[in-house]
Amino acid sequence: VPLPRPLERTARPVGRDTQLRRLEEVWADAASGTLRVAVLAGEPGIGKTTLVGELARRVHARGAVVLYGRCDEEPLLPYQPFVEAVERLLEAMPPEERELRLEQRDGALRRLLPGSGPSTSGHDGATARYLLFEAVRALVEEVAHDRSLLLVLDDPHWGDEGTLALLRHLVRTASHRRLLVVLCIRPAELNPGSAAMLADLRREGPQVDVPLEGLDTAAVDTLLEARIGSHERDLAERLRRRTGGNPLFLDELLRDAEGRPDGTPPTGLQEVVARRSARLGPAAHATLELAAVIGLEFDVSLAAAALAEDPAAVLERLDGAVATQLVVPTGQPDRLAFAHALVAEALLARLPPSRRARLHLAVADALEGRPTPEARRRAAELVRHLRAAGPLAPAGRLVAAELEAARQAENAVAHAEAARHLEAAVERLRATTDGTDVPAILARAGQAHARAGHAERAREVFGELAASARALHDPSCWPRPRSASEGSASSSRRPTRP
Ligand SMILES: Nc1ncnc2c1ncn2[C@@H]1O[C@H](COP(=O)(O)OP(=O)(O)O)[C@@H](O)[C@H]1O
Ligand SMILES: [Mg+2]
Repeated sequence: VPLPRPLERTARPVGRDTQLRRLEEVWADAASGTLRVAVLAGEPGIGKTTLVGELARRVHARGAVVLYGRCDEEPLLPYQPFVEAVERLLEAMPPEERELRLEQRDGALRRLLPGSGPSTSGHDGATARYLLFEAVRALVEEVAHDRSLLLVLDDPHWGDEGTLALLRHLVRTASHRRLLVVLCIRPAELNPGSAAMLADLRREGPQVDVPLEGLDTAAVDTLLEARIGSHERDLAERLRRRTGGNPLFLDELLRDAEGRPDGTPPTGLQEVVARRSARLGPAAHATLELAAVIGLEFDVSLAAAALAEDPAAVLERLDGAVATQLVVPTGQPDRLAFAHALVAEALLARLPPSRRARLHLAVADALEGRPTPEARRRAAELVRHLRAAGPLAPAGRLVAAELEAARQAENAVAHAEAARHLEAAVERLRATTDGTDVPAILARAGQAHARAGHAERAREVFGELAASARALHDPSCWPRPRSASEGSASSSRRPTRP
């Protein structure tokens, strides 16, 4: 299995000897058959991916299998990081073996992988999800039986419920395998689900914390020597203070100043990135802004369609961004990636809301106009853009997209995500139409919540369902839902449930 590209392309870290030694120890534990979970925690740009990239190169050279998956702030598909990891693993197998895996457990893995064909499983929600989780566990265990396995999950602080549940399942059930899971997290951006997951892992034991702080002056000095051939200890100390030793900030500052890092006015990382992008010229800058709206990785042809331009012209316009390392190749010819999530975030932060909404709508239009066999990949992505287009997106289109994303999440037994899409559809329908379609969608939402284990929310949704069904049946003859303080005097008038 080849080294995953996002890890392969990372730089050699300086000033991280202690952390690397710690990771090597943890790896040795894992490689001898004790499952470990290492949590690399630190602010964006501090060097989490770079550090785990170095570990990945080392263990890969010794014969280990390395898998990688990333969470996005808005998930692009259910179980996103696991889809990425499992797809790579299956791709590396001979076709017959791959087919065999996909067929096992009534085709459970097909539910995970968009475009891999329909699952033949006739099981209902909870069982289907269990079978899917078990299929992933079995796959991981088999790999980790013959060789040591390093599984890197980048940015799981943004993980959705399904992803976090699968990660938990894996850690709980694969305990005697040669497996090291590395989680690269931004502690300041933990969502409630990922915070709870980390607390559980910590309680249950396999977790090792590797906090990352800014580089010290000696490391900054080494970095300056490598980047600009400078040996001034003073400069290193001044830059360390200015950047907090954040290597991404340092690199951006050095590129911004073209070798005169001290000459630029003191600004934050976002300003520096935005200035570097603006310097490429208005057309390239605008293209980068659109690309940032698409995401951390983007298809050049999708960007071109959204801009109503020729892909070759768009690609050419991004040459400067590639040359100055704002953007990097991904290995797939049509796809580029921002060098770091913060680059995209810096561009987005500066977009006026109206322009941002228009760009999201343009991307949604381009997505809908695209012929693609992987429909499931598009549904959640389309929803993301239509939601972000706000008032510019017609309600009907958004509702249709939410329902399609819900259907695909249901297929993938991602119940919590399905429920989220269904409830969003209900909300929009109530705001814009007579609500005729609401009961049927609420019924699905209630079921999805129940299957996701949200008992209380399921009860509430079924309550809403009863109320809205009554209301639709004949709004004039049923009492409005009563508050508890009204007592039970009118209970005899309450209709039986439809
Ligand atoms: N220890 C290091 N030595 C040299 N460069 C580093 C180091 N850590 C990170 N960098 C550089 O800083 C940038 C951000 O690092 P990255 O690992 O992507 O941060 P994170 O994953 O924590 O957000 C990268 O471009 C990388 O090349
Ligand atoms: Mg990272």
